Amino acid sequence: MIRPFLWGVSTSSYQIEGAVENDWTAWEAAGRLQARGERCGEATGHRSRWRSDLALLPTIGANAYRYSLEWSRIEPRPGHVDGRALALEVDRVNFLKNLGIEPVVTLLHYTHPRWFWKEGGWESPRSIALFRRFVEVVADAFEDRVRWWTVVNEPIVFLLAGFIGGRIPPGLQSFASAAKALENLLRAHVEAAAVLKDRNEEARVGIAHNMIEMAPDRPAHALDRRLAAAGDRLYNLALLEAIATGRMSWAFPGEGRVDFRVPELPAANDFVGVNYYSRVHLRFRGVPGAIGEFFYRDPRGHGLTDIGWELHPEGFDVALRRAEATGRPVLVTENGIAARDDAHRRTFLREHVVVLAHRVKSGAPIAGYLHWSLLDNFEWLEGFRPRFGLFEVDYSTFARRRRPSADVFAAMGRWFTGEGAAGEPFAASRT
Ligand code: FCB
Repeated sequence: MIRPFLWGVSTSSYQIEGAVENDWTAWEAAGRLQARGERCGEATGHRSRWRSDLALLPTIGANAYRYSLEWSRIEPRPGHVDGRALALEVDRVNFLKNLGIEPVVTLLHYTHPRWFWKEGGWESPRSIALFRRFVEVVADAFEDRVRWWTVVNEPIVFLLAGFIGGRIPPGLQSFASAAKALENLLRAHVEAAAVLKDRNEEARVGIAHNMIEMAPDRPAHALDRRLAAAGDRLYNLALLEAIATGRMSWAFPGEGRVDFRVPELPAANDFVGVNYYSRVHLRFRGVPGAIGEFFYRDPRGHGLTDIGWELHPEGFDVALRRAEATGRPVLVTENGIAARDDAHRRTFLREHVVVLAHRVKSGAPIAGYLHWSLLDNFEWLEGFRPRFGLFEVDYSTFARRRRPSADVFAAMGRWFTGEGAAGEPFAASRT
């Protein structure tokens, strides 16, 4: 275990603050959201309530908070910095630090300024300098106040959904475009890490990597097994290998393959951020344009979450071990459940935190655990229906209500942060 162990929650700007014009609002306006007709609006109203929301953190035993900056607020036009938006972010960092909360800052959590795409977006090598300029603005303003950074959230999911699946902005369906964007994103990460370390030599820089267990739907079927293995490499392993070695080899079955080197990548990753939620099953179809399909199953009969994801804590163990194998500390940057019935969240928490506790007990270099999420929020594809919060949001009044799982979360945290009695983290939290 790495001390002080970071114990807290994660959010992202757009999902709780909304109220901005960016690529996502354009996507919503064009009716391209999966939850059609849904608009983020001001999301949970956090923009005007951030102080009282952040004041909830100590009440759940948190000592860390991961959140993201909205690039389009800070740099609404190319090269033009909105001083007030930036000042708010400095206030927010100071506020967190005064509460004794370690900020973990994400610089890119899915949303972009619209102008960024007009300038060529991630397919253009110019993106590296454009992103660097934004990072410099932030790093100069924050000086050495922020130590922990997850520069990019889920680059692989972003590329698969945005550049190949066409499901989120920029809405492309091209492996060649995704491959270019992947290379530029990783190079931009390297540049960002250099800027952040230059401004603060204590900076700990990483990527929040979504990992999902991949299983063949028909284990006896060789093509399902091959598809699951290929999916696993594409989705989970390729990025971990690139972080460990600087070599990226990314192949999408039936679509294409790209190999390149970013020799500076290993030194630009001080830790690996893991976002873990679930497992998928893959089935080979072999028709042009659709080599296979994936879906969530419920083999244990435990039920699926409110957005249909399998509950599979065993996969969390696998994800952690694989991230550890890069030779870096691992920070769980997201883990959570969409559950209107909070009893499911309590079970989910216990089952996943037990896995984490075992890794910690066995001496694994785990730096912390950040639960998704502090509040119910706007979920990218599904809108407001999924409820991920330790605090419920009433969307008609924006009132917050603490869920019982917040108490379970606080009780478990004492074991990890050393603030409670010794013993099992989960024994103290039976409800
Ligand atoms: C992750 C995203 C996060 C949230 C959760 C449920 O993939 O990073 O913003 O939507 O899923």
